Amino acid sequence: MKGKIITIEGIDGSGKSTITEALVEKLNRKLERKIIKTKEPTDSWLGNSVRKGLRKNIDPLAEAFLFTADHIEHIEKEIKPHLDKKRIVISDRYSDSFYAYQGATLAQNRSIKNPIKYLKNLRKDFTIKPDLTIFLDVSPRTAMERLGEDKIKFENLEFQKKVYENFERIIEEERDRFLVVDGEKAKDDVINQIMDSIELKINF
Ligand code: TYD
Repeated sequence: MKGKIITIEGIDGSGKSTITEALVEKLNRKLERKIIKTKEPTDSWLGNSVRKGLRKNIDPLAEAFLFTADHIEHIEKEIKPHLDKKRIVISDRYSDSFYAYQGATLAQNRSIKNPIKYLKNLRKDFTIKPDLTIFLDVSPRTAMERLGEDKIKFENLEFQKKVYENFERIIEEERDRFLVVDGEKAKDDVINQIMDSIELKINF
């Protein structure tokens, strides 16, 4: 038996954080193994620098490297030690957010022809691929309505549409790794659907 990493992804306003919390609670009750909840950007000083960078509108490439520094520390200091102890780690956002969001910001930087490919290549030698990724499928319009007026840099409709398209492309490339769930349903339905499918996708 080895540790597993499950990641939860979606655009802003897709309800990831609520679903992550509910999933951790359900799995904690169902499984004997310890479940660890984590997130990216992290709550470390590197994660805080990432958030600060977003607020300051830094250069897209600098932004990509800041997110990557936070990702590396997250893996080395938090994820690996738990996986070594055979635990189940559940991360609210992870590398697919990176490919989808920075893929969208870097698309505006013309010197990089295929941003998603570039970003995947950047991380391939040190990232840990998730055993399963749950994608909460919520349309950009519904997600924006959920967020209301409370918007930050990434929370405008045009940008979220690009991010959503990038997620679709990423899922298409690795269909088997993903569990795509209709995130527009009620929370309990979303959680039940995840619980019904999760054991078919992952061998706990
Ligand atoms: P979010 O999950 O909203 O974290 P918090 O609530 O702690 O601020 O993430 C902040 C934003 O960062 C969100 O719009 C998605 C974006 N993001 C990236 O652009 N790249 C990444 O690699 C990750 C993990 C997140």
